[in-house]
Amino acid sequence: MIKKYDFLVIGSGLAGMSFALKVADKGKVAILCKTNLEEANTYFAQGGIASVTKPTDEFDNHIKDTLIAGDGICDVNVVRKVIESAPSQIEELLKWGVDFDRDDKGDFDLHKEGGHSDFRILHHKDNTGAEVQDSLIKKIKEHPSIDVFDQHFAIEIITQHHMGQLIKHTTPNIECYGAYVLDIRTNHVHTFLSKVTLVATGGIGNIYQTTTNPTVATGDGISMVYRAKGLVEDMEFVQFHPTALYNPKERPSYLITEAMRGYGAILKNKKGEAFMTKYDQRGSLAPRDIVARAIDNEMKLTGDDHVYLDVTGKDPEQTKEHFPNIYKKCLSLGIDITKDFIPVAPAAHYLCGGIKVDLNARTTINRLYAAGECSRTGLHGANRLASNSLLEAIVYADSAAKDALKILPEIEWNDEIPEWNDEGTSLNEEMVLITQSEKEVNQIMNAYVGIVRSNLRLKRAYDRLEILYRETESLFQRSVLSKELCELRNVINTAYLVIKAASQRKESRGLHYTIDYPKKNEHISLY
Ligand code: FAD
Ligand code: SIN
Repeated sequence: MIKKYDFLVIGSGLAGMSFALKVADKGKVAILCKTNLEEANTYFAQGGIASVTKPTDEFDNHIKDTLIAGDGICDVNVVRKVIESAPSQIEELLKWGVDFDRDDKGDFDLHKEGGHSDFRILHHKDNTGAEVQDSLIKKIKEHPSIDVFDQHFAIEIITQHHMGQLIKHTTPNIECYGAYVLDIRTNHVHTFLSKVTLVATGGIGNIYQTTTNPTVATGDGISMVYRAKGLVEDMEFVQFHPTALYNPKERPSYLITEAMRGYGAILKNKKGEAFMTKYDQRGSLAPRDIVARAIDNEMKLTGDDHVYLDVTGKDPEQTKEHFPNIYKKCLSLGIDITKDFIPVAPAAHYLCGGIKVDLNARTTINRLYAAGECSRTGLHGANRLASNSLLEAIVYADSAAKDALKILPEIEWNDEIPEWNDEGTSLNEEMVLITQSEKEVNQIMNAYVGIVRSNLRLKRAYDRLEILYRETESLFQRSVLSKELCELRNVINTAYLVIKAASQRKESRGLHYTIDYPKKNEHISLY
């Protein structure tokens, strides 16, 4: 079935929903999500959104912190744009009903996280993401021009390729006409035609075994754009959050926000030693790449599978007040954080790279925009500064909306788009193989493409992944589509892009650390 919309938005996180709200007065909008509106990385954000809001802080300080974290390869124009746009975008969130915590005087209660030189993180308790997501969902549902399609899985971006033209990465003027979308409930593939499409499909955490990301984060948008011959960049920079709660039975891993270290919690090893100062003078609040590598190293030195976060030195009532959800979650596992150390270990958390976009959020494919975690704007460089990603998502969704509204009147419908062709496919009886293959990818990525890399490990990962790639592509050609099969294909594709980019970077920089090209002055032991 063909559906026509002025704007097709793939993804219902902060990037997708804020874009939808900003264009909906000027045209019909379809917003898609794989499961339900809530299941998005945005919902799980804890720490908050970074913005200069108090008179004693300055844009230049936030810019400097972002550039330091990014280890020399941030795009300075992008950094300035995002940070200087932050206060006005915070205003938009407030207008949509997002409630940030305030102090007794009515000023924002600001938190501090690793790599920030000042307290500038706006937050709602320790569940900022849920507050943002719920507020925007309410607005989306109220808007008469926005149709929500949950349980709808975008399979491919439609381009001239689907009209029989041979497309390469070098082909000029590739155009996007919408997307083929699988209705998960009926298993029917719909053709969504659009004048403008926004990819806002979020992160890739689920290519790894251990991740803080909900299961929807499988790199679908990045894979779709790559297959459609759009440019993808900086895929080697996968951020591992240093402090995911160590609870091997649980996937995704529950996050212990970095704001807790900003509040005074200290990383300790099993012997109770505060080890971070051995690695960096900023201690537990050094940028994330350094802290995650230090924890990884401590775990290898001691043979333990986790370290600890100690917040017992702080006032128990204040701890409960600031981190009520973390307190409850840990208590449910028998850990009273006001008295006990919290077992933590790093977990795949965020992708700095992705679909390459310009300052207007345009991808290299015409009529196709990308915003949020799936995009590569140049803000993060080699390592994202904490709480800069919600900010990037809302700033770039705004840029995309403004630019899309400008080009909308010039765009004509293309009525020659064929419907999805599933001739010659049959029902796939081997569902268990799909699940098994995804687990294999997860194991490969954890074992060989984690925090510490090497040429040999990357080559191993590549060789093993290639077998899974061939098997899965063959299955894809022969089988009636399912969400699981499409997802597996994207997981493999995304993992391939991370391995390829990591293999090409012949240096250690930011989040990409390789023992073949080590940085000076880093305490990394070899195993
Ligand atoms: P998401 O919010 O992830 O939304 C992606 C959407 O795309 C979902 O609706 C999904 O269903 C949909 N989708 C995906 N594939 C398809 C497909 N094929 N078809 C249809 N729909 C699809 N950042 C901060 O700045 N501050 C924080 O405090 C913070 N804390 C975090 C805590 C956790 C536990 C996690 C996981 C992340 C955190 N981050 C934080 C990162 C931040 O939350 C994300 O980078 C950001 O929310 C991404 O927003 P997004 O709109 O790009 O994507
Ligand atoms: C956290 O709360 O520690 C996560 C913040 C982020 O990922 O930016």
